[in-house]
Amino acid sequence: MAGYGDLPVVEGMRYACNGGKRLRAFLVMESARLHDVPDAVSVQAAAAIEALHAYSLVHDDLPCMDDDDLRRGQPTVHVKWDDATAVLVGDALQTMAFDLLAGMEAEADVRISLVSSLAKASGAQGMVLGQAQDIAAETAQVPLTLDQIMELQRNKTGALIRWSAEAGAVMGRADIAPLRAYAQALGLAFQIADDILDVEGDAQTAGKRLQKDAEAGKATFVSLLGLDAAKARAQDLVKEADAALSPYGGRAENLREAARFVISRDK
Ligand code: IPE
Ligand code: IPE
Ligand code: MG
Ligand code: MG
Ligand code: MG
Repeated sequence: MAGYGDLPVVEGMRYACNGGKRLRAFLVMESARLHDVPDAVSVQAAAAIEALHAYSLVHDDLPCMDDDDLRRGQPTVHVKWDDATAVLVGDALQTMAFDLLAGMEAEADVRISLVSSLAKASGAQGMVLGQAQDIAAETAQVPLTLDQIMELQRNKTGALIRWSAEAGAVMGRADIAPLRAYAQALGLAFQIADDILDVEGDAQTAGKRLQKDAEAGKATFVSLLGLDAAKARAQDLVKEADAALSPYGGRAENLREAARFVISRDK
């Protein structure tokens, strides 16, 4: 019988983790640096969130979800192999994320806190809820309101970004409030930028198919506010993210830069 490593699932896991901007890993490591957590420790949590994020993308691209054939400039996992492999690659990346956190070089209470908060952020109260709300919105009789879109996006994209930014304070046993406020603004700005990219971006540069949200009748900031107001809102959110970091003063320059990056990115 074929064993570990012989089957496409392991190659698929590596394949799915290739490329990407590594924004969530960056947030984990930069927030950790603010609390003097060594990189050798925070890199383990950074790897965990990137594995979990990669799982969410593999499943998001499946034919029963967004039905996409391009991700990070490569054929999606179900196109390269098949649907069953893509489901299993996602499943295995998800469980790997929790294994990485459980095995971190940190005190047990910190590890439990990271495991538990990531379970909540990624599950039925977080990313999975947001994905379900996103799908439901495609067939909603009445278009979503701005508040409903914000809630959807807080779950779909915001929850994992928030976990990433807060992880440094958790590892450093510090107050998570400033990083939470930063991440709330950043996460929303990030998803607004993703929606704008879907309308205005270049698929070659972005490495994924675009112009799909309108086609699918997705509720986005752009569909509700129009491009100009969506861009203005993203700018305001970057200012909010910046202000939230004031307790850290000049030490948080890299996180400030990340906020500016998320709304100016072309991929
Ligand atoms: C894409 O996330 C999916 C969303 C949550 C909008 P990213 O834009 O961070 O994707 P990668 O990791 O850089 O490929
Ligand atoms: C994906 O959102 C969000 C998650 C995977 C949690 P989208 O469907 O908007 O992401 P893209 O545009 O395919 O990257
Ligand atoms: Mg989607
Ligand atoms: Mg998608
Ligand atoms: Mg999108």
